[in-house]
Amino acid sequence: MQLFGVDIGGTGIKGAPVDLDRGDLAQERHKVLTPQPATPDGVAGCVVEVVRHFDWDGPVGVTFPGVVTGGVTRTAANMDKGWIGVDTAALLSERLGGRPVTVLNDADAAGVAEMTYGAGRGRTGTVILLTLGTGIGSAVFTDGRLVPNSELGHLELKGHDAEKRASVKAKEDGELTWERWARRVQKYLAHVEMLFSPDLFILGGGVSRKPEKFLPLIDGIRAEIVPAKLQNNAGIVGAAMAAKATKPATAAEEGPG
Ligand code: BGC
Repeated sequence: MQLFGVDIGGTGIKGAPVDLDRGDLAQERHKVLTPQPATPDGVAGCVVEVVRHFDWDGPVGVTFPGVVTGGVTRTAANMDKGWIGVDTAALLSERLGGRPVTVLNDADAAGVAEMTYGAGRGRTGTVILLTLGTGIGSAVFTDGRLVPNSELGHLELKGHDAEKRASVKAKEDGELTWERWARRVQKYLAHVEMLFSPDLFILGGGVSRKPEKFLPLIDGIRAEIVPAKLQNNAGIVGAAMAAKATKPATAAEEGPG
């Protein structure tokens, strides 16, 4: 089965139909640059452009880099503050001609995809996926079930918002070496471990493509630490999985009885 996922990020909005049997994109993804400022209206236009690029007319799942409850975006740490309190699921559904739209947090989407198709597949206990990018996103699982909107990127670390110290943006802005940045990531992981005692950390975001640069520099963490496997497409895949929940089941899918 194919469903459509869109990943809204601070720099790009990307989407593709997803093959849910394989957990991978069914076609090459289409990406447009996030308008600045990234207002709901401007971004909604980009989501429409991405979906229309594929001629897709079914339900759509969309990730957002902030807290999302019941389709309403509640926070916007790295986006325009105009998103706060917007019924984003309703806005996007209206702009996409009334089709069902499911909206969820970007890290939660990536986490669900990793747990199903990637590094967390078959893993029980407490698993925490952290995406290290412009901000830090988190997805917390207990025996495979997501606790949504965990927002562990905003834990306080040495008096700072953790994502301001240990995100990839913090590394780039501060021109930190891999060694210095890895020390910060290690302190951050130690803090999260103190609070949750996870069995497994999955590290996602762009850096999951270069685990050899920093994973060997991290020690003193009891939990196993592995890089994410789906990398850049985890958000799109997780968004499409969320759309599945809204798709009316056909008689064949419902089965007898
Ligand atoms: C937001 C999270 C988001 C993360 C990654 C944080 O600033 O608060 O909701 O998951 O960035 O985009």
